[in-house]
Amino acid sequence: TPDGWLPRDERLIRLTGVHPFNCEAPLSDLYNEGFLTSPELFYVRNHGAVPQYTGYDLDWEFTIEGMVENPITLTLRDLLEQYEQKTYPITLVCAGNRRKEQNVVRKTKGFSWGAAGVSTALFTGVVMGDVLKKAKPKRGARYVCMEGADKLPNGYYGTSVKLNWVLDPNRGMMLAHAMNGEKLRPDHGYPLRAVVPGQIGGRSVKWLKKIIVTAEPSDNWYHLWDNRVLPTMVSPEESANDEKWWRDERYAIYDLSTNSAIAYPAHEEQLCLVAGPEKYRVKGYAYGGGGRRVTRVEVTLDKGKTWRLANIDYAEDRYREAGAQQVLGGTLDMEWRESCFCWCFWNLDIASSELAETSDIFVRAMDESMNVQPRDMYWSVLGMMNNPWFRVTISREG
Ligand code: MTE
Repeated sequence: TPDGWLPRDERLIRLTGVHPFNCEAPLSDLYNEGFLTSPELFYVRNHGAVPQYTGYDLDWEFTIEGMVENPITLTLRDLLEQYEQKTYPITLVCAGNRRKEQNVVRKTKGFSWGAAGVSTALFTGVVMGDVLKKAKPKRGARYVCMEGADKLPNGYYGTSVKLNWVLDPNRGMMLAHAMNGEKLRPDHGYPLRAVVPGQIGGRSVKWLKKIIVTAEPSDNWYHLWDNRVLPTMVSPEESANDEKWWRDERYAIYDLSTNSAIAYPAHEEQLCLVAGPEKYRVKGYAYGGGGRRVTRVEVTLDKGKTWRLANIDYAEDRYREAGAQQVLGGTLDMEWRESCFCWCFWNLDIASSELAETSDIFVRAMDESMNVQPRDMYWSVLGMMNNPWFRVTISREG
């Protein structure tokens, strides 16, 4: 049997009952893992059953077809033998991350992710653009559709991204076969998946079987009816009855929205705060979309009247500064890569006496284009891209 058919970690919180498997780690456990998330606690988003591939992983085949001069069938072995292997740290985020907060306000059509629908790994594979160039996209081709091997009630899972993104090395799109130095686990797309950094996880198709180059965005059911932020006034009933909302590509989401969360203290935690000079370290994560760097993270104890600047640790930069090197079977060379495709961790020391005076801590992040988390939620029917100021309420022990 392929590597990785291991029992799933008991700490994972199941979000959709027994099947399909969708889970996140408790936020504090995710944070404690540090910059890289182990496969055990990496969030999982499966629309259906994991395809049971029992063949030899190197024999896994996928095709490149559609508007190309040179349609090809490739195996994972071809990718390993004919292309340079790269290893990059990449954060994946489900578009539904933090949806639970939307469901509390008004029920959306999606299940309740907490704030741990995000994880980071060192992905090893090949540059997707290099593989695509070999198939020679024709004039007029604008989109790259991808399809997985998971057969779902409405066909295979599939979606598309723009061809010029795939061909742009700064967008960092990969076809990956390993995560943190081991073969992909079945839940994460074994033996081959796409990894689309800086964009919602839904574009990173797992168990990749088909790449179809087209003039129009994907007409796959899951591309049309998923991963969209419809205008806030569209109700579940209206959206179900009127297809026009779904056919409008303007509402499809790609780059992630700027976001952050507080891991410590936990929401509704009772803190043992003693008077005196002690400090409590408030900490959490933040990420931006489309490769944009998070440039500040701010914390407020008075609901936004005044803000304090948190310290940020960009662990991704340590790989950048290390220069070209061999890492886990691939070349890690981020000199050319100015984009930030990973989360960063932030912290702020606050006097215990000050924390004792407040019941709420909020955090917000801003990216280099000044995309800042809004105070108010933008509710939408699928509850995606939720990113208002993240709040924890705390109380004092005793
Ligand atoms: N690819 C296939 N084939 N089937 C899926 O259900 N889910 C997508 C994406 N790729 C999915 C898929 C979604 S919505 C997300 S957020 C990511 O995979 C999750 O990747 P992960 O489970 O490895 O964290």
